Amino acid sequence: MQQVGVAVIGFGWMGRAHTQAYDRVRHHYPDLAAPRLVAVADPVPGRAAQAAARFGFERATTDWRELLDDPAVAAVSVTAPNFEHRELGAAVAASGRHLWIEKPVGVTAADTRAVAAAARAAGVVAAVGFNYRNVPAVLAARELVAGGRIGTVTHASVRLLGDYAADAGGAFTWRYELERAGHGVIGDLGSHGVDLVRFLLGEVAEVVADGAVFIPRRRRPDGVTTGHARAETGRLVDVENEDWSAAVLRLASGARVTLEVSRVAVGHQNDYGFRVHGTEGAVEWDFRRMGELSVTRGDGVQDLPLATVFAGPDAGDLAAFQPAPAIAMGYDDLKVIEAAGFLGAIAGSGAVTATLDDAVAAATVLDAIAASAAERRWVGVDAAAVAAP
Ligand SMILES: NC(=O)c1ccc[n+]([C@@H]2O[C@H](COP(=O)([O-])OP(=O)(O)OC[C@H]3O[C@@H](n4cnc5c(N)ncnc54)[C@H](O)[C@@H]3O)[C@@H](O)[C@H]2O)c1
Repeated sequence: MQQVGVAVIGFGWMGRAHTQAYDRVRHHYPDLAAPRLVAVADPVPGRAAQAAARFGFERATTDWRELLDDPAVAAVSVTAPNFEHRELGAAVAASGRHLWIEKPVGVTAADTRAVAAAARAAGVVAAVGFNYRNVPAVLAARELVAGGRIGTVTHASVRLLGDYAADAGGAFTWRYELERAGHGVIGDLGSHGVDLVRFLLGEVAEVVADGAVFIPRRRRPDGVTTGHARAETGRLVDVENEDWSAAVLRLASGARVTLEVSRVAVGHQNDYGFRVHGTEGAVEWDFRRMGELSVTRGDGVQDLPLATVFAGPDAGDLAAFQPAPAIAMGYDDLKVIEAAGFLGAIAGSGAVTATLDDAVAAATVLDAIAASAAERRWVGVDAAAVAAP
């Protein structure tokens, strides 16, 4: 059986998600070459070794550089924090390894461009973790919109509301630092939001935005953390990036979009979704009911009902997971779809689901949102920066 040697750099939540996706991918895409879990790296003592013992990596290290000396490694997942992406992404690509990297790729659009340039120069396959565009119902919504089934899109709202930082006792981790996270919730959740806007509705031309920090100080933990840990002890330090942001986006098509993102929305866990309104109908989606769309279409345009439509096996890659509509898929399945795109592209038989050009485009819009909030004015999105370089 043909195999692709893979390595994972950074074994927090996303490191595990990528690893499990590699592990499961052939259950759903049996024609792909099998990923071989060659190596895992994480600087936290014991973390990579534990991952190797649990998931079957052949070796573990605290130094990612060792992975790039290993000829058995052909492809690498970069699932370390944002501030490491530029160095890690560029080094992986320069070593000739294919790259699957998490969003947002780096801390600024300049970081994302640097990784994209390195991947292009090396001629490697590169995939980005914009998983929500892999949801079969989202692909069905995209087709509905592109096919003119709701008329001309006039306006839309996109929201990504979370409560992961709502607890003032949540530890001050890399996510709250300008240098290590860059943007706050705009980079973290807003990157997914901008990607969904582009995927469904096209390019963003101009933005105006506001942002706010509502929990200004958090405790810097004494030990290591993963995910969204609490800190009972440690020094209180200033949070450096936004907890909340709202933006109005003018699209190149003329449509208007509101994008609201929050990490402190009490009562809203992973409340992600969109509503797209057209001249003849509307379509909406909620991540927490991932397989459903609410669709309005009919005779006339007023007083129409909203119908629940379940994505079926003809939507996206649903058929690789379930035989019929309304059998739920899960978040981890989206990472399996992403892994399949990545491995298919490496084999020359498919395409990645999101490219580094998509990441550059999203990062350029995010930088414009941050600049608008800081400068309190409309900011144009540089179309040349968004276009594939
Ligand atoms: N696509 C998504 O839906 C999604 C969801 C969550 C996180 N993410 C992204 O994934 C990335 C990681 O997030 P997470 O939630 O897994 O974070 P995490 O804090 O849970 O894990 C990060 C891991 O990287 C390790 N690490 C730090 N520096 C390293 C280095 N130089 N080499 C190797 N490992 C290193 C840390 O020790 C930690 O184990 C971030 O960029 C984040 O934005 C994407």
